[in-house]
Amino acid sequence: MAGILERYQDFYPFGSDYPFVSLEEGNTPLIPAPAVAWHLGEAYNLPDVKVFLKYEGLNPTGSFKDRGMTYAVSQAKVDGAKAIICASTGNTSAAAAAYGTRAGLKTLVILPEGKVALGKMSQAILYGAAIVEIAGNFDQALDIVRALGESGKATIVNSINPYRIDGQKTGAFEICDVLGKAPDYHFIPVGNAGNITAYWKGYKEYAERGIVSNRPKMFGYEAEGSAAIVQGKKIENPETLATAIRIGNPASWGPAEAARDESGGKIDFVTDEDTVSAYRFLAGREGVFCEPASAASVAGLFKAASQGLVEAGSTVACVLTGNGLKDPDNAIKHGNAQLAKLPADAGQVAEFFEL
Ligand code: F0G
Repeated sequence: MAGILERYQDFYPFGSDYPFVSLEEGNTPLIPAPAVAWHLGEAYNLPDVKVFLKYEGLNPTGSFKDRGMTYAVSQAKVDGAKAIICASTGNTSAAAAAYGTRAGLKTLVILPEGKVALGKMSQAILYGAAIVEIAGNFDQALDIVRALGESGKATIVNSINPYRIDGQKTGAFEICDVLGKAPDYHFIPVGNAGNITAYWKGYKEYAERGIVSNRPKMFGYEAEGSAAIVQGKKIENPETLATAIRIGNPASWGPAEAARDESGGKIDFVTDEDTVSAYRFLAGREGVFCEPASAASVAGLFKAASQGLVEAGSTVACVLTGNGLKDPDNAIKHGNAQLAKLPADAGQVAEFFEL
């Protein structure tokens, strides 16, 4: 199975000798979520909603970023770049480091110190990136990247690079390919707002070509403490437990609002409490392990349902943007398990398990 760019070549201007840098990203599962659907019926009187989870954690570096990075890095190679550079809350840096390494390019990464989940950090380190942790947040890191990118010595691979968004649109194609139509609603976490922009582009292109006849309403969710678009102003000190979306000045702010308005959707916020509750629900009830920021899509679905914004009998896609293994600290902290440390004694173990 080829990567997304080769599979969806019809949507790109590649020549026959295009140097694809791919780790066979994409083709991730669209997992039915019967427990989420059941909850919509029980808690919000919304029967027969068909809910699907686009599980992007199964990409090669464990997040949706691989879809954009395969294109941004391939193109950097075409353009003769020697190095790539990005700011990141973690996942972009992991993807950049992996694809950069594969392309033989030096990868330069700027991270907010102390705010990147352990798994993501470990990836950038093992792939061999050059990493700077700044005493600042993602938005400040991106400002530095923009300044350094101007020198032309390193290609920026954040989503301000349009190839990123143009690769990520394939997530929408895959959802439509499985459903045979676009969903009625698309729920997605919003950080720097590139992915909601990309999905909307993908849905629009499929509809324009007549491959599907409908387009979803786009529902994007920021974290309460980082909800710049919702509040209509930059957040100087964004905060949230969902560190992946701890962003106060989204780069694709305007296009995200356009996706919302053109589709008749909404951009709202979810509290960290809602996010953790959806995170635990997905793992404990569906058996699906995503990272906290990813669960904002399902927390958003529950919030929208409580506000009467979702119709009974509709089809819903929620993007789970990153793998739960990215953030073991939060999994352990908020986990569903009953844990015990006991002597090596069958009787005591049996008692604990109530056998
Ligand atoms: N979910 C996860 C797991 C993410 O890593 C990100 C963004 C988002 C959602 C939000 O997507 O920015 O396109 O709105 N992570 C970036 C990073 C910022 O550096 O890894 P977005």
